[in-house]
Parts: sequence; structure tokens; C-alpha cells
Amino acid sequence: MNGSSEGAATFRYPDSPVFYRDLERTYRLAKRAAGAWIEGDDGTRWLDACGGALTISVGHGRPEVVRAATDQLEDVAYVHGAQFTTEAMEEAAAMLIAALPPAYRDAKVYLTPGGAEAVETAIKLARAHAVATGRPQRRKIVSQRPGYHGNTLGALAVSGRDALRAPYLPLLTEMPLVAAPWCPRCPLKLRYPECEVACAREVVQALEEVSGDVAAVLVEPVLGASAGGFAPPEDYLRSVRRATDGHGVLLIADEVLSGCGRTGRFLASEYAGVEADIVVLGKGLTSGFVPGGAVVARREVVEAVAPDFRHGFTFSHHPVVAAVIREVLRLIRDEGLVGRAASLEDAFRTALEPLGRAPAVEGWWARGLLAGIALHPASAGGISARQFAASAWERGLLVYPVGGPEGQGDLVVLAPPLTVSSEEIAEIGSRLAAAAG
Ligand SMILES: Cc1ncc(COP(=O)(O)O)c(C=O)c1O
Repeated sequence: MNGSSEGAATFRYPDSPVFYRDLERTYRLAKRAAGAWIEGDDGTRWLDACGGALTISVGHGRPEVVRAATDQLEDVAYVHGAQFTTEAMEEAAAMLIAALPPAYRDAKVYLTPGGAEAVETAIKLARAHAVATGRPQRRKIVSQRPGYHGNTLGALAVSGRDALRAPYLPLLTEMPLVAAPWCPRCPLKLRYPECEVACAREVVQALEEVSGDVAAVLVEPVLGASAGGFAPPEDYLRSVRRATDGHGVLLIADEVLSGCGRTGRFLASEYAGVEADIVVLGKGLTSGFVPGGAVVARREVVEAVAPDFRHGFTFSHHPVVAAVIREVLRLIRDEGLVGRAASLEDAFRTALEPLGRAPAVEGWWARGLLAGIALHPASAGGISARQFAASAWERGLLVYPVGGPEGQGDLVVLAPPLTVSSEEIAEIGSRLAAAAG
């Protein structure tokens, strides 16, 4: 223990041997977590409105998942994915396919140690597909700004998050980044629907300009944290799908954040009725019980690269990750959590309504149990997302702060567990309103 505050242990850099995510923060101990609540060592309780990094789907501390993981740890904790498969792996893959729309029925599931590794896998698969289909010049991935796909160098190269990229730019492969369909702060300064989804035309243009060079277009079907979880007009994804089809280019849907029921459908891309060639999942897929992600690849893609997709990690297809995913998917199915996320959207919106009157708030939006709050920049009477999160923390509420794009206010993202109760949603609303001031 580095110190204590009113009976609670506190830890901070440089007193602790831990290289913390935040070297300025004074950390508290998390002792236990259940449902939508996290408890500290002194009994303080925080209502988890963001599931850490927008990760918790089936709720904290589910004994069923703990049992599934410990059973697997006892049976076979680890085998190498190039040597063995396990029942957990086979059943997790089958359950994931069963949760997806019918177009994915013949798809194949590749488990990874996390979301960024799943994105890396998808990018390499798109590249391997281009090579295998006799188009070796195709090496670019078109993606959006703002957008986020992970912090490894490959995933960061396709992420439109300038602040995260800046120190590493010389290490990042140059990839075409086009305007994201982020209507509340349109990068093209246009308005929907008069814009006729001009941002989708940017994808078409990128495909034409670097024609022959592009292996895939990568999209977040509901935008991720970098755009506050905003749900774009559905014609965007449909136009992008038409463009990728027209150019013989793969479409990768990054549903790491938006998938597994978060937005009220198992995949957010279901709202647009669009099926991608490759789907990337993470976060809610393991609900945070263990780190993990997955790539779902349509059969045609896998057939093209078979038998030699030169890729893999020590912890690909990990039996314990598979056992956790199998149980999380069972809970999502048996407890109807996807439908629950959809049906709780109204209550969530009602809880967020008072934020519209807070002077620091520029606007907010919600889809299913994913919501974003846009703050005014400090120069226009706003506060930073970190200040907002600190104020919420003091009120026993956890929210996810995100730095806004250059010159614009910050964002706060909310993603409570899909098991959250109506009373807890109302409580989130009143604590948020108090935090917004
Ligand atoms: C849309 C999206 N893709 C990929 C990632 C990377 O996942 P991970 O942090 O598990 O590496 C994230 C993480 O925030 C994400 O939101």
C-alpha cells in the first residue's frame, strides 16, 4: 500500500512497482464486483455505467462464467491452437455462428487474445485474401477519421485518432483515412440528410483513387468511443457495401465495441441489413472475464486463403477464453440480453434527457445501451471529459472519458452491462445530471 485516504488504500506512480495506465492518477483498490457495481476496499460502491472500456455485457461477477472458466482451467487450461482443438473452442464457435445473421452460417471463427489482435488478424486476412486471389498489389485498408481499432501498430495505422497516433507516426504504415459518418460533428461540415451521405462518397473516391491498391474497407457500423458511440444513418453502411462489392474489395466490420448486443442487435450492422466479409468482435464477447476477441470470416474468404493463413498467436484459440465466450453467449441468448438492450433504450434516453439542459453539454445520443455525451470545449463553457469523469467518480458513477478531436469538446461514453435494471438506469441518469453540474 502506498498510502490511504479515509481508510481506503491508495496507490500511485512512482511509489508502486506498477507501470500504470495513468501515471498521474491516485488509484483505489477494486475488491469485488457484481452486476453493475464495483466495490472498493473501504466499502465504497461505484455504479458502473461504462463497463470499464465499454466491455461488460452479462454483468460483473457472474458465477456461471466463473464456473465455466474454472472447470476449463481444471480440464485443459492451455493447448496450442496448432496442435489441438477443445470442446470449448468448437462449441464457442458454433454458438457465435448461431448468434449471427444467417449469412454467416458457413463462416469460420478465429479466437484472439484481444480486440486489437483481432483487428490485426482481420487486416492480415484481407491481405492474405488479396494475395491468394492473384491481386498482390492490394495492400491498403480504407478506414475513417475519427475511428479506433486498437493500439497495436497495425491497428493504430487504420485508426483515425490523431492524439494516439502522433508520437508513433513514423512507425505507422500510411493508410487512406476518410471522413467518418459522425453527423453531430460532421468532419465534412455538412448536414444529414441534405448531404446525401457525402462521407460514403469519400469511401468510393478512395477506392477509385487508390484503385487496385485496396484490400479492404474497415468500418465501425456504430461508431466507437472516438465518436462517442454514435449510430450513423443506415444508408452509410449500405453505400459502403455497394462500393466494396463494385470494386471487389472486402468489407471488414469492426464490432469490437458495437457487437454482442450492445446496440440492441447482436451486430450493429444488422440495423443496415449489411453483412460484412469479415466481422471483428471483442469486449462484450468475454464480458471482461478474460481478455479475448474473435474474427468471423465468411467461408469464401477462408477458402481463398486455405490451407495456409500464415498467422497466429501463442494464445489464439485459448481454451479458457473459449469456455468464457461459450458461457457469455449462452447467457446473452438465454437471458434475451440483445432484446433487453433494445427495449431499455427508451428508459436510457429518459435518464439522459436532463443532460440536454446542462451548460457543459453540447449534445448526447443513444442506441440500445450505448450512449455518448459531447461536451463543449472549455473555451465555450465546457469541461474536459476527465473533469466530467472525476466529478462522476465523486458521485459513485463510472463513465468513460474520451478526448475530442482537435478544437472540439471532449466526449463521455456510457455502456452499462446489458443486465442493468431500470432503477439502475434511472440512478445513472440522476448521478450524471449531478456530475454535469
Ligand atoms: C471498435 C474497436 N476496435 C478495436 C478495439 C481494440 O480492442 P482492445 O482494446 O481489446 O485491443 C477497440 C477498443 O476500444 C474498439 O473500440
